[in-house]
Amino acid sequence: MKIAIDGPAGAGKSTVARRLARELNFTYIDTGAMYRALTLKALQQGIDLYDSNLLQQLAEATDIHFQNHSGDQRIISDGVDVTDLIRAPQVGEAVSTVSSHPAVRAVMVKLQQAMAGKCSVVMDGRDIGEYVLPDADYKFFLTAGLEERAQRRVREMELLGYKSDPSAVREEMIKRDQIDSQRPVGALRVLPDHIVIDTSNMTEDEVLHAIMMKIQGA
Ligand code: DC
Repeated sequence: MKIAIDGPAGAGKSTVARRLARELNFTYIDTGAMYRALTLKALQQGIDLYDSNLLQQLAEATDIHFQNHSGDQRIISDGVDVTDLIRAPQVGEAVSTVSSHPAVRAVMVKLQQAMAGKCSVVMDGRDIGEYVLPDADYKFFLTAGLEERAQRRVREMELLGYKSDPSAVREEMIKRDQIDSQRPVGALRVLPDHIVIDTSNMTEDEVLHAIMMKIQGA
C-alpha cells in the first residue's frame, strides 16, 4: 500500500507521516530530507546551485538512503549520518533552488520510486501524488495558514537549537512556497484526487485521526 502526503513547509506533514507510518507499520520516506541531503553535499562541495548538469551528476553519484535506529529514522548520505546537519538554516535556504532543477528531480523521483517498490510506504513531499506515486492508494494534501506554518517552523528550529527570527522565517517561507509552486516540474499543487486537510486549528492527534478515518473508510 502507498500513501502520499503532499503540502507546503510547516503544514505538519513529516510529524504526521512519521506517526502514521508507525501506526500502520509502514516505512516512512521523507523526500524533503533527500533533497536536503543533496543540497548539503552541494554546499559542502561549493557547487553552483544553478548548474543543473553538475547537480544532476552529483545526485547520480550520491548514495542517499534511510536507516532505522530503534524507531528513529536517520538519513545517510555517502555513508555519513546527516540527519541533523540537513536541518541547518543554510540548507533550508538553498534547497528550493537545488530541487527546482528538473534533471535533479528526475534522479530523485527514480530513487524514491525504487524505495517505494520494496514495501508499503507513507511518503511525504511536494510532488508525491503527481509524479512519484501517481497510483498511490491514498493522497493527502496537508496545508495551514502562513502564520501558523511560520510559527511551527520557528518552534521546530528552536527545538533543533537554531535561534530564528520569526519575521525572517515568514519571509523565507513565502519565497520558498513561491519557488516550490512555480517550478516547471514537480510543482506543489492540489490534485483532484488529493484529500485536503487544513491543519491550522488541529492538533497532531486530530490530523492523524482524520487521516486514519479516511484510510479505514469511516
Ligand atoms: O519538506 P522540507 O521542507 O524538508 O523540504 C525541503 C525542500 O525540498 C522544499 O523546499 C521543497 C523540496 N522538496 C521537493 O521539491 N520535492 C519533494 N518531494 C520534497 C521536498
